[in-house]
Amino acid sequence: MGAITVITSGKGGVGKSTTSVGLACALAQRGRRVLLIDGDAGLRSLDRMLGVEAELVYDISDVTAGRCEPVRAIYPCPGFPGLFLMPAPGRDEDTIPPDVMRRLVPLLAPYYDHVLIDSPAGVGMGFLSAAAAAQRALVVSNPDPVCVRDSSTVRRLLEEQGIREQRLVINRFQYSRFKKLGCFEDLDAMIDESGIRLIAVIPEDVQLAAAFAKAHPAPGRSSGAMAYARLAARLEGERVPLAPLRRL
Ligand SMILES: Nc1ncnc2c1ncn2[C@@H]1O[C@H](COP(=O)(O)OP(=O)(O)O)[C@@H](O)[C@H]1O
Ligand SMILES: [Mg+2]
Repeated sequence: MGAITVITSGKGGVGKSTTSVGLACALAQRGRRVLLIDGDAGLRSLDRMLGVEAELVYDISDVTAGRCEPVRAIYPCPGFPGLFLMPAPGRDEDTIPPDVMRRLVPLLAPYYDHVLIDSPAGVGMGFLSAAAAAQRALVVSNPDPVCVRDSSTVRRLLEEQGIREQRLVINRFQYSRFKKLGCFEDLDAMIDESGIRLIAVIPEDVQLAAAFAKAHPAPGRSSGAMAYARLAARLEGERVPLAPLRRL
């Protein structure tokens, strides 16, 4: 059965969806079958980032309401072999209740190597729904103090949900900016404040953001794509070092 991972954070706009797509593509490039579930009801974005927007008919709420079989709401992503998307409902009111997620996702997981669930912003119903079926969490944070404090709050909430296996993904990292801001003495100080073990540092990478905005695969040699490839390997237990921070 595929590992079920929620990608979450307290704040919006820190890069949960970018990380979900970047990681999903990197895992698919490693030859894995990956199901990405968009948990952001009302503000869904993954269908657009993965180029299935035009053919979208059914979404996860049609499955849970019994209007279609799960397979009808799972779309292969063109240009991303091995990657499949289950889109979020178009309306916030159709957020899937946590207990329904807890029943549905384990039924899908045996058909994939990985199930990734992209969480919405905030710590309300959408967050609880996205986390409900997960065995582990990636908490995405930017290297600024408010965001790091939110990560610590999210860590506690995930623990309350029984998710002990958590890893921190620092996104949009730029060494020179981090030093100039001077809010943390070093990366270790930031990691300590979040209370979550680090798994990846993803650099600020406009090439990657531009590619996803146009539903293109990330340029393979871009710093962001390479960082997601490292994250994918580390998530699968390989001993791969982080990128040298001073070069980010
Ligand atoms: N590593 C990155 N480098 C450059 N831009 C990024 C990076 N991560 C995210 N972004 C940009 O930040 C914005 C918010 O990212 P998104 O993934 O939608 O955040 P969230 O899902 O947490 O709300 C988007 O415009 C995205 O392109
Ligand atoms: Mg998002």
